[in-house]
Amino acid sequence: MSQSHAPVLLEEAVEGLAVRSTGVYVDCTFGRGGHSRLILARLGPDGRLIALDRDPEAVRAASEIDDPRFTIIHGAFGELAERLKAIGITRVHGVLLDLGVSSPQLDAGERGFSFMRDAPLDMRMDTTQGPTAAEWLATASEEKIREVIKTYGEERFAKSIAAAIVAARARGPLGTTRQLAALVAEAVPTREPRQDPATRTFQALRIHVNQELEELSLVLPQCVELLAPGGRLVAISFHSLEDRIVKRFMREQSQADRLPPKLAVRARDLPQPRLRLVGKARRASEGEVAANPRARSAIMRIAERTAAAPSAVSQRDLNAPPTGRRARDAGTRETRSVAAAA
Ligand SMILES: C[S@@+](CC[C@H](N)C(=O)[O-])C[C@H]1O[C@@H](n2cnc3c(N)ncnc32)[C@H](O)[C@@H]1O
Repeated sequence: MSQSHAPVLLEEAVEGLAVRSTGVYVDCTFGRGGHSRLILARLGPDGRLIALDRDPEAVRAASEIDDPRFTIIHGAFGELAERLKAIGITRVHGVLLDLGVSSPQLDAGERGFSFMRDAPLDMRMDTTQGPTAAEWLATASEEKIREVIKTYGEERFAKSIAAAIVAARARGPLGTTRQLAALVAEAVPTREPRQDPATRTFQALRIHVNQELEELSLVLPQCVELLAPGGRLVAISFHSLEDRIVKRFMREQSQADRLPPKLAVRARDLPQPRLRLVGKARRASEGEVAANPRARSAIMRIAERTAAAPSAVSQRDLNAPPTGRRARDAGTRETRSVAAAA
């Protein structure tokens, strides 16, 4: 099993951060540290890099970096501001989000992310908390299962898949990746070229189990609050649901607030946009995609913090996904998350 992860859009993302030698940077998704290591290489002796990952395996890999400028935190980036504040950081010069799962997560059979390997149906990035996919599927209503598979997997056969899952669990526990993949293959009547019929269902369950879209919606406004003027936000997404949230957020934040017409306010007092878009969305080069097929779906967006003061707009609830579980979990997450090293 491979423990390495080929970083996607590596040079481009770190260029996008416009690293200043004395700046404070945050890599919200350490993975195996491809981006983190390049950021460290660009930082001077007084620079600082804080990395987060919710996966204890990633945190263990990060502990191999012996560098006084580097700090790793075990935690979810949805709690970014709070986790940084706990170590005395309230202003940063760049934030990187390289979303989704890492290759070691997909390759490690026992994590249950992949239908290619038979394993317990787990799918949690943070193995220290929250229900596994199997636990969730054992109790969720058919309606909820259908909704998750339809929304997060964009799966048109969500109804038959949900019905098949509920029928199967009445006969016995649905606990392994192979069991689920076989059941989905039977429930899906058509085949897409070069795609396993279980692909969409596995993506949907992974997104739900890890509350991935909710995490993203939570972290983006925090980035705007944390960034110093001129600081950069770089986000790499791997599917349209993520990219839609990033794109919409950056667009909203880069437009001035709309005020009622004829409001008596001087132009200089109008609320100014808090972000400025930097270039257009970028994709990986053909060469990178040839070397690393995972880069095929990557899309990177960059924005720069302006000097405008934050406003209530940046706190707006962004595209809240329909299956929120975070509110229920909020009370337990804090006690269970562990800062592995500082
Ligand atoms: C695509 S990988 C990052 C790869 C990394 N840039 C590298 O070069 O090795 C995504 C990582 O982000 C982590 N992750 C995903 N969502 C997270 C969240 N909400 N909070 C913290 N870490 C998260 C995953 O556990 C995974 O290790």
